[in-house]
Amino acid sequence: MQIVILENSEAVAAHGAEVFIQKLQKKPNAVFGLATGSTPLALYKKLIEANQNKTVSFSDASSFNLDEYLGLSGQHPQSYRHFMQENLFNHIDIHRDNTHVPHGDAENPITACKEYDELITQKGGIDIQLLGIGRNGHIGFNEPSSGLSSRTRVKTLTHATIADNARFFAEGEFQPHLSITMGIGTIMDSRKVLLLATGSSKADAIYATVEGPLSASCPASALQMHQDVMLIIDEAAAEKLQHKEFYKHIERENQKLMASLK
Ligand code: GLP
Repeated sequence: MQIVILENSEAVAAHGAEVFIQKLQKKPNAVFGLATGSTPLALYKKLIEANQNKTVSFSDASSFNLDEYLGLSGQHPQSYRHFMQENLFNHIDIHRDNTHVPHGDAENPITACKEYDELITQKGGIDIQLLGIGRNGHIGFNEPSSGLSSRTRVKTLTHATIADNARFFAEGEFQPHLSITMGIGTIMDSRKVLLLATGSSKADAIYATVEGPLSASCPASALQMHQDVMLIIDEAAAEKLQHKEFYKHIERENQKLMASLK
């Protein structure tokens, strides 16, 4: 795991956006795996800026989102499709047909999940998968106990996740308890994984991801087995890491090495 520890959430977003921008400049038809939640919002703002000032174009790129609430159509204001339209897709030159979010209102969700994985394969696989992390270590909506080789499927949300996400729903509004999510195996197939975490509420999950055992109890710990994963986290999210200083030392050494190769 490459662990990049930065001062604050602004620096995390800037660093993450730079990874996307560089990929897009090298590979205009890159396939991105995208995430919802509050964490990626600042990164999306930077991608919008980069697109609007013509540093990059998304016109040949495509995207696959991690997850969606089961039972919500893409028009629903709390759907993740709607979230992506509002916070990214409507502001960049990506073609709507090249953006994919699982269909929360699919007639047959089980078939839809299988088709989602097949479509990812047909498009050549995901170049960079962006992830946030739940306080319980979930990625996408793969809650603790999710199979570490699981594929896209219907998942039941934990009470903790429902409570964490209740802030997005009005009082009394229907909040789904089920979701469609890429599986951990689906995420692990991505060529590169970028996990962003900010704030001390994520410190336990980051500790379990990096220094805990490989275990379905912390779904993000599966990333220990990925060959190209970069965690970009702020000081607050890093505060429980026992070897924090060592990770910073590795990064400094990496940068020296990269500079000497230029
Ligand atoms: C949701 C999403 C996850 C996201 C997590 C954390 O449960 N399904 O993909 O990583 O929330 O969200 P936040 O970034 O708002 O803390």
